[in-house]
Amino acid sequence: MAMWLRAGNQAGRAARLARLRTVENGLAGASLDTLTAVVPQLAAAAAANTTWTAAAAATSSWHTTGRHFASGSSGRLAPAAAAAVPATAAQAADAAAAEAAAADPAGADAAVGAAAGTKPGGGEQADAFALVREEVDCVTERLRRDIFTEIPALERAAEYFFRAGAEGKRLRSSMLLLAASALAPAPPSLHHLTIDPAPPAEHPQDVRRRQQRIAEITELIHVASLLHDDVIDSSGTRRGKKSLNAVVGNKVAILAGDFLLARASVSLASLQNSEAIMLMSQSLEHLVAGEILQLTADADEAASMDHYLRKTYCKTASLMANSCKAVAVLGGHSQADCHAASEYGRHVGLAFQLVDDIMDFTCTASEMGKPGLNDLRSGLATAPVLYAAEEHAELLPLIQRRFKEEGDVEAALGMVEASSGLQRTRQLAAFHAAEAVAAVQGMSAPATQHAAEHRAGLLQVTQRVLDRKK
Ligand code: FPP
Ligand code: MG
Repeated sequence: MAMWLRAGNQAGRAARLARLRTVENGLAGASLDTLTAVVPQLAAAAAANTTWTAAAAATSSWHTTGRHFASGSSGRLAPAAAAAVPATAAQAADAAAAEAAAADPAGADAAVGAAAGTKPGGGEQADAFALVREEVDCVTERLRRDIFTEIPALERAAEYFFRAGAEGKRLRSSMLLLAASALAPAPPSLHHLTIDPAPPAEHPQDVRRRQQRIAEITELIHVASLLHDDVIDSSGTRRGKKSLNAVVGNKVAILAGDFLLARASVSLASLQNSEAIMLMSQSLEHLVAGEILQLTADADEAASMDHYLRKTYCKTASLMANSCKAVAVLGGHSQADCHAASEYGRHVGLAFQLVDDIMDFTCTASEMGKPGLNDLRSGLATAPVLYAAEEHAELLPLIQRRFKEEGDVEAALGMVEASSGLQRTRQLAAFHAAEAVAAVQGMSAPATQHAAEHRAGLLQVTQRVLDRKK
């Protein structure tokens, strides 16, 4: 457990963390019809389609489990549900992070650093990404070949996202394969470090190949969402290059995303595991819900930390949480370990996005591969701005009008810099990284030295997410 979590009033802290978890678990369990509840336009469409609404009501998890953040099809939050929505999430996380900083000046940052620097058995710790690089390379190469050999027009999409050297750190695949090994009873065999020759529709014969498929599916879903996102944002660049839509136009870029999603669906079905299918499908649903939440936010929502956290869970953390859990499920691990894997992914995802939001203010355009202050310029108030608005009330109208008036972006930047917004966002990111560390430390004991090293790799990833500069 992170150092700062041990200090101070345990009962109060436990209550706050429990509240935070309740809220976020509510989000993790959110189902299809939450869309109708959070997006009024869709609610109206759903109300007009009684067949769909009845079917959704009969099958949805929020009706059956009570884990929901809205009720009915009115399109507005019902009071009881609204109380459980992240009205408390921001406050709980903020309070916990702020208290952490006060109780321990080194903060959650240090706790993560200490855990991430631990090598089982002593000595210098191996690079977490290097531990799984060979296997990740196989997954990437399979994706690349498979996609563009089948549809040459997609070659450019494959080139953009799966080409060696242009694919980024492949954080998602690396995390997933680290998690697979951290929980495994034995290391993967040598043949798992070769490219899987089976076609996407063929049921993978062994557990490790099935887990590799989750890494593959996760990359496909992630890239598909970016292709669509660049169309929605009219973005001309991605990862420092022209975006696909800028090169081939919106229609082909959208279809390329659709193709990747279709391919992911085939691969997912081939796993023949309904829980894994459910988990990955939910992450898809959340991606779309997150994008719609962002796109349709009204003035109050644009200025709301709750809304921001909900959107961030949906757009970034859900895919990481659900894919990590799917890997554990396919490994046949205990419910507790599957839950820990999910928690790890969720907290890493939230920390990742918070750091991203900080970098939008602190990094140069060339470091990020996209224009600086991109969020502000596209009208988005992220955590640093929302925190800054608590200290500078005059920021609120700028947020609500999406920084559209001349000088708004510069004025907002000045207020963020004159506030503790960036520092508090960093604390919140460190809080989530510390929670990710705690999730790994709560997993059942590693079965082998190999598992222990990969578990240490998962811890190191949390530090790398906090430290990343691009
Ligand atoms: C990047 O957001 C975008 C996402 C994380 C997800 C986008 C999701 C959709 C477009 C919904 C459709 C989903 C699928 C699977 C087709 P950003 O604009 O905040 O970040 P950026 O700076 O990287 O563009
Ligand atoms: Mg975008």
